[in-house]
Amino acid sequence: MPANRTYRIAVLPGDGTGPEVVREGLKVLQAAASASGFAHDLEQYDLGGERYLATGEILPDPVLDELRGFDAIYLGAIGHPEVPPGILEKGLLLRLRFELDQYINLRPVKLYPGVDCPLKDKGPEEIDFVVVRENTEGLYGGMGGFQYKGTPQEVSTQVHLTTRFGAERAIRYAFELTRRRNKMRQLHLVAKTNVMTFVHDTWWRAFNEVGEADYPDIRREYAHVDATCMWFVKNPEWFDVIVVENMFGDIITDLGAMIQGGMGIAAGGNINPQGVSMFEPIGGSAPKYTGQNVICPLAAIGAVQMLLDHLGEKDAAARIEQAIVKALTSGKIKSLSAGRMGMGTAEVGDLVAGLV
Ligand code: IPM
Ligand code: MN
Repeated sequence: MPANRTYRIAVLPGDGTGPEVVREGLKVLQAAASASGFAHDLEQYDLGGERYLATGEILPDPVLDELRGFDAIYLGAIGHPEVPPGILEKGLLLRLRFELDQYINLRPVKLYPGVDCPLKDKGPEEIDFVVVRENTEGLYGGMGGFQYKGTPQEVSTQVHLTTRFGAERAIRYAFELTRRRNKMRQLHLVAKTNVMTFVHDTWWRAFNEVGEADYPDIRREYAHVDATCMWFVKNPEWFDVIVVENMFGDIITDLGAMIQGGMGIAAGGNINPQGVSMFEPIGGSAPKYTGQNVICPLAAIGAVQMLLDHLGEKDAAARIEQAIVKALTSGKIKSLSAGRMGMGTAEVGDLVAGLV
C-alpha cells in the first residue's frame, strides 16, 4: 500500500455524456475512499468542445503543465458534434496522451457474469484478456501531408511512424503484464507482417528478441490483425495478453468492447509507468444521449477501478470490481445499452456505490 494515501486527481468530464458518467464514477470513488481509508483531492477542468466553441482554447499550455503535477487524470469523453472531426481529438485527447508520454493504452476485455454477450456459447470463462495498445506512434504520429491539394493531382500521405524504442517499450510492458497476470503466460503480437513489411518487421523482431532474451517463461504467439478479428468472435478464449500497434489496437478494442458487453462497460487506461496516467471509458461522448440519464456509467466506474489499481490502491480497486459484479448479477440492470438499462445513469451509480 502506498505510504502517502492522499491522491490529487484531475477530473476532465469533457463533452456529451462524459460529465454524467464521470459524476457516477466519482460517487464510486468516494465510496471506495471511505471503505479503504484513502483521501483524494479533485480538481475539475472544463476542457472540451464547449470551451473550445466559447473561447477557441483546446488545451492551453499552462493547463497542460498543471496536469503534469497530478497523481492521475480521470477523463469522461471528448467529441462535440459542432466541432469538425480531428480538432478536439488531436488537440486534446491525443495531445494529452503524447505530451504526458502515456505510451500504453491498457484495455482489458473481460465479460462479467450477468452481462449479455453477443457471442453464442461464450461466457465469462471464455472472455478475459487484456489488450496493450501502443499509444504514441504509428498512424497517430501525425506525420504526413498534402501535395497539390484540391487538384486532380492531389497527393496525400499519412506516415506510419514506428521506432524500435516505441515498439520495444510497449512490448516489454506487455511481457511484464503477462507475467504478473500469470494466467496463460502467453503474449500475442498482433500486426500485419505480410503487408506492413517495414514497420511490422520492426515490431516482429523486437517482440522475438525481447521475449527470447528476457521472458523465456512467456509463450509467444503471433496473429495477423484481420485474423484476430475473426478469433475475437470465434475463439476469444485463445487470448491472454495482446500487444499491438496504435491504430490496429484502436480498431480491435472496439470489437473487444462489444464482446464484453458493449461501450457501456469498456474502460481503459492511458499509462505512463513513470509519469501521470489517465483513465477513461473507451466509448465516445454519445451526444444524442446527453443529459438524458440513460447512458451506462459502468465503463466510467471501471475506469476509476483501473485508476485506483494503478495508484496501488488494490483493495479499493478490488472492492469496486466486486461491486460492479454484484450490481450486474443483482438482476436490477436490464441491459447495458443506452436507454435500455431499466434504470437511470445516476441510479446505476448509486447501486454500485452502495455495494462498495
Ligand atoms: C479511442 C478513440 C480515440 C483514438 C479517438 C477519439 C482519437 O477512438 O480512444 O479509442 O482513436 O484513440
Ligand atoms: Mn477508438
